[in-house]
Amino acid sequence: MNGTVLVTGATGTLGREVVRLLVARGVAVRGLSRRVRGGGDGVEWVVGDLVTGAGIAEAMAGVEVVVDCATTQKKADVAGVRTLVARAREAGVRHLVYVSIVGIDRVPIAYYGAKLACESVVRESGLGWSVLRATQFHDLLLRFFDAGVRLPVFPVLGGVRFQPVDVREVAEAVAGLVGEEPVGFAPEVGGPQVRSYRELARAYLRAAGKRRVLLPLWIPGAGGRGLRGGGLLAPGRAVGRGTFEEALERRFGQR
Ligand SMILES: NC(=O)c1ccc[n+]([C@@H]2O[C@H](COP(=O)([O-])OP(=O)(O)OC[C@H]3O[C@@H](n4cnc5c(N)ncnc54)[C@H](OP(=O)(O)O)[C@@H]3O)[C@@H](O)[C@H]2O)c1
Repeated sequence: MNGTVLVTGATGTLGREVVRLLVARGVAVRGLSRRVRGGGDGVEWVVGDLVTGAGIAEAMAGVEVVVDCATTQKKADVAGVRTLVARAREAGVRHLVYVSIVGIDRVPIAYYGAKLACESVVRESGLGWSVLRATQFHDLLLRFFDAGVRLPVFPVLGGVRFQPVDVREVAEAVAGLVGEEPVGFAPEVGGPQVRSYRELARAYLRAAGKRRVLLPLWIPGAGGRGLRGGGLLAPGRAVGRGTFEEALERRFGQR
């Protein structure tokens, strides 16, 4: 494809991998960030904020495809996507690719409710759209565990399973949509293995060379039930190959 691709969240865990892949493929990439960034990486960096709307119209000028990898991890995402869609329509964008999360319609927690609302905005945008839902990235679990290991006891989500995926594989799937016609909901991308949070936590502690007392946490309400019921899993879409142990090895080295 010849047109410019605007990647929002281009500095984030997923966005930077998407940017890397697109640049390697010779695509003209414009990366959005709230902060000024230097060049030299093949990316045209622009400053903008999806929540306030500042800089988004300018970022959209001449753009053919938008890949939305931005998130505030809060309800503010919905306002951000509305702004993104409005400015994309004005700019005549051909295709909006939105990244979402497997199971957000099965697990009623606030952030997932916001993601569902974002999907609706995208679906009703009048733009050509694709939504790609992925399971949790290895990096997210590492972040949970990095926080847990600093506490006197190590919290583990009781009865919850995850199917973590290598973010680079999600980025491949996202980048693959960019040059294509909009597909609506793309096939979900799930990690290779469904694992209990406890088992993943033990693997983390082993790799980190730490010993901790595990403290099971039972999340109350419908959100907790959804999590324990396997709502975040996509066992039929275990297409990822990279395992959590490989992510641990990259982080901590081989033991
Ligand atoms: N993490 C997971 O396990 C996971 C799993 C499945 C799907 N997803 C989805 O994948 C997408 C990317 O997630 P991620 O984990 O890569 O996110 P992340 O690492 O937290 O990065 C968030 C990005 O959003 C940008 N951002 C935040 N607030 C913004 C604002 N007001 N205006 C413009 N940009 C803003 C940040 O850019 P600056 O700070 O440079 O402005 C940053 O690049 C999200 O839609 C998420 O829901 C995540």
